[in-house]
Amino acid sequence: MESAEPDLAILTETAERVATEAAELVRDARESMLAGRAVTVDTKTSTTDVVTAVDHESERLIRARLAELRPGEPVLGEEGGHEGTSGAPGTAVTWVVDPIDGTVNFLYGLPEFAVSVAAQVDGVSVAGAVVEPVSGRRWTATRGAGSWLDGRRLAVSAPERLDLALVGTGFAYVPERRARQAELVAGLLGHVRDIRRPGSAALDLCAVAAGWTDAYFEHGLHRWDWAAAALVATEAGAVVSLPGEDPELGADGTLAAAPPIAEALRAVLVKCGAGAV
Ligand code: IPD
Ligand code: CA
Ligand code: CA
Repeated sequence: MESAEPDLAILTETAERVATEAAELVRDARESMLAGRAVTVDTKTSTTDVVTAVDHESERLIRARLAELRPGEPVLGEEGGHEGTSGAPGTAVTWVVDPIDGTVNFLYGLPEFAVSVAAQVDGVSVAGAVVEPVSGRRWTATRGAGSWLDGRRLAVSAPERLDLALVGTGFAYVPERRARQAELVAGLLGHVRDIRRPGSAALDLCAVAAGWTDAYFEHGLHRWDWAAAALVATEAGAVVSLPGEDPELGADGTLAAAPPIAEALRAVLVKCGAGAV
C-alpha cells in the first residue's frame, strides 16, 4: 500500500511535545535523586555503560505518548529496541528515541543530558527534537525547513582555519575501542584549537548547529544518539557524515562540521587513523 506523505511540521511538533514531557519526568527524577532518593542502575555493554530506572521510565512515557498521538507507527528506542513496533501496513514513519542521552552525566548530577525523539522515513531523519531537562532548552529540526533553539533559527559557525576550530568528541564504552579513540584524539590535538568531551552525543551535535563548537566527531554512535540531533546540525548548515556513509572515517564514524573546515578536518582524521578506530 502507498503511504501518504507525512506532514513534517506535525512530526516536529509531536517530537517536541513528547520529548518535553519526558524531559519533565527526567528533571523531576533528577531533583529527587539529588535530594537523596536512590536510583536503580544496571550495566549494559561494559561496566561503565549504565542504564538507570529513569531511562526506562522516560522511554515508557515516550512510547505511551507516541502510541496515543501517532498510533500504529513503529518506535525504535535505546532501551526497548524494536519492542512492539511492527508498523501498520503503509506506515511511513519510524520514531527513534534516546530516553536520556548522557546517562553518565545524569547519574553524576551533571546538567548535560537530553531526551531525543526523531521521526525517520526510510532511515532518514525528517523531524526531531532534543530537549534538555535541566536548562529546558529545546532543539528542533524539520528536514528542508531549518533547525531552531527555543524557536530561534540556528546557523553553524564560520571558522577561518582548522587550527582555530573547537572540536567536540565522545568515546565508546568498550575499553579497547577507547584506546584507539584516544590515539585519534592525540593525533588531532595539534591541528585544532582544542577538544571538548561534554558527554551527550545529541547535545554535541546541537552545539555544532549553534556554533558553540565548530565540529564534532565520534565513532560507535547508535541511531538513537544521532537521529534528531544530526538533523538539527544538517539544517543549521553543517556538513554531516552519518555512521556507514564515509568508509574512510571507519564503519561507524560520525562527523559534523562547519563547512569552511569540514574537508580539512576529515583529511586530518583520516590521516590520524579514523578508518581503523
Ligand atoms: C552516550 C553519550 C556519550 C557518547 C556515547 C553515547 P548514552 O549515550 O551520547 O556522549 O560518547 O557514545 O552512547 O549512553 O548516554 O545514551
Ligand atoms: Ca545515547
Ligand atoms: Ca541513552
